[in-house]
Amino acid sequence: MNRPIPPSDTPILSATDPAALEEAARLLKAGGCVALPTETVYGLACDATNADAVAGVYEAKGRPSFNPLICHVDTVERARALIDLDETGEQLADAFWPGPLTLVASKRAPSPVSDLAAAGLDSLAVRLPRSEALRALVSRLDAPLAAPSANASGTISPTTAQHVKDSLNGRIHLILDGGACPVGVESTIVSLLEPGRPTLLRPGGVAREQLETVCGALGRAGAANQAAPTAPGQLTSHYAPNASVRLNATAPLAGESYLGFGAQPESDDIVFFNLSPKGDLVEAATNLFTALRWLDSASDRIAVAPIPETGLGEAINDRLRRAAAER
Ligand code: TXA
Ligand code: MG
Repeated sequence: MNRPIPPSDTPILSATDPAALEEAARLLKAGGCVALPTETVYGLACDATNADAVAGVYEAKGRPSFNPLICHVDTVERARALIDLDETGEQLADAFWPGPLTLVASKRAPSPVSDLAAAGLDSLAVRLPRSEALRALVSRLDAPLAAPSANASGTISPTTAQHVKDSLNGRIHLILDGGACPVGVESTIVSLLEPGRPTLLRPGGVAREQLETVCGALGRAGAANQAAPTAPGQLTSHYAPNASVRLNATAPLAGESYLGFGAQPESDDIVFFNLSPKGDLVEAATNLFTALRWLDSASDRIAVAPIPETGLGEAINDRLRRAAAER
């Protein structure tokens, strides 16, 4: 193991400070891991071509090593060098990159990406994010950055630098702070592995309806194999708060806190967080993980209002079902 040892108190620096980016590039080149903002959630980035650095990310997160990572790139050309982008892939990339969309396709051989990052699969997940800091670092390293969400495995994803610090302090080398993530849920993952039949592997920051205007009807992934997810590591219990979670609750029961949506009466007697009083699903996605953290810290039982399954509602409900799953 050659990677640097993380400091016991992980520093937080501004993602727009050139000296901080310089330091991040130095740490990444040395095999370290750096948390940084993306439009979806904070990612824990490392050099995807350095197996030792990737091992450091798995270790910091306590992540099961069968769950492959997304490789982040700075240009569509770099994506094309890593995976076979077919016509559908080109159309989706053109419409939604940079943005909260990840494409899974056949890995080009030989691949510069370490087998550990791809969990030994022949396919690879690639995303071109909006984050300027992330893209600048990919350019500086001239290598893709593998980045899972910057939280301990199985816990609620981070949408602020402080969330990252709360979860991973002392386990990672640096946190770049770019403020709160504007989208708030992870990227949508689409598989291009079956020619002519793009498949939705994970609902996320780009709504299904938006994708379908570009590529037609999306197939749905089969039930995930919990032991060895070849389709995304969709472990059922994920995004887990400590509190129990009850879905589709039109009102809280005694002792429950309440995650509301849309016009709903508030009461001083209950711990209440409304994801979007005006019923806007984009706003609700932005608030989701902060709301879950807050209710989790304030109560043992969280009741959740019904949320429509349209637009970003599909991603929100996906995360909430995982938060509610048996564990
Ligand atoms: O928005 C996001 O996607 C964030 C930011 C940091 O980019 N990243 C993120 O990474 O959510 P992570 O590791 O929490 O989730 C990545 C998902 C996992 O469910 C994984 O199984 C799936 O992507 N995945 C990665 N490679 C895959 C592949 N070759 N085939 C199918 N799924 C894959
Ligand atoms: Mg994650």
